[in-house]
Amino acid sequence: MMKNVLPLSLPLLLLILLQCTKTLAQAQSPAPAGPTNITKILEKAGGFTTFIRLLQLTQTSDRINTQLRKSSGGLTIFAPSDAAFSALKTGTLNSLTDQQKVSLVLFHILPTFLTLPQFQTVSNPVRTQAGDTGPFLFPLNVTTSGSQVNITTGINKASVAGTVYSDNQLAVYQVDNVLLPLNIFGPQPPAPAPGPKPKKPAADGSPVAARSGVPVSSAVTLGGAVHAVVAALGGVAYFAAFYL
Ligand SMILES: *[C@@H]1O[C@H](CO)[C@@H](O)[C@H](O)[C@H]1NC(C)=O
Ligand SMILES: *[C@@H]1O[C@H](CO)[C@@H](O)[C@H](O)[C@H]1NC(C)=O
Ligand SMILES: *[C@@H]1O[C@H](CO)[C@@H](O)[C@H](O)[C@H]1NC(C)=O
Repeated sequence: MMKNVLPLSLPLLLLILLQCTKTLAQAQSPAPAGPTNITKILEKAGGFTTFIRLLQLTQTSDRINTQLRKSSGGLTIFAPSDAAFSALKTGTLNSLTDQQKVSLVLFHILPTFLTLPQFQTVSNPVRTQAGDTGPFLFPLNVTTSGSQVNITTGINKASVAGTVYSDNQLAVYQVDNVLLPLNIFGPQPPAPAPGPKPKKPAADGSPVAARSGVPVSSAVTLGGAVHAVVAALGGVAYFAAFYL
């Protein structure tokens, strides 16, 4: 049994081993002054003042930095320029609750590292750190043509206007519009069939058609899943080394 399997899978194992070694080598090579710091990256690029403010306000910048340090599958960030934020209707950001601000920011983050060509291979809707892609939630579609990458949300669309940063773990792309998720800017889900209005709140506390917006936990579980994969890969690489 093993004899049949090994000659076939050995090249694959070697490839994985090689990849792991390469990743290690990259991790060890001196990164530009300390661990990845999304704030610093955007500050250096310039023109992202509002997005930086939102990342800090929602403490997403800390979470991004932490997640990248945990050697996960990486992250891709769509960074709207200051011009993109200026194009929003006046008061748009101020009208959002704290939770909605968190969701809005997480909607601009994909849970894996993607190069521009890799966008051609993603399947729609693409999952963001904001969570569920279902109707009334956080769907995001990507269309590509050559090196052009367009994004639609069901509310508006944006184009990737350039690469701000890419290091094989984190990709930051400038987008020309703020990505507006359906969950925040779209129509409410249909309300339950209207009945006679109760004069007092129902005593049984019947559930309201609450819109689920629980992105924080989804991002956390994602980190866990990635960890499991990394651990599994580590095991394979170890086996390959042992076999040799
Ligand atoms: C990241 O960079 C910003 C701005 O350069 C700085 O204020 C912040 O302390 C840095 N964070 C970490 C964790 O080094
Ligand atoms: C992307 O959007 C631009 C501007 O709206 C449009 O001209 C172009 O055809 C779109 N490309 C794709 C691949 O959707
Ligand atoms: C996104 O893509 C899915 C699958 O192709 C499609 O069903 C959905 O209508 C698209 N949504 C938008 C906003 O383009």
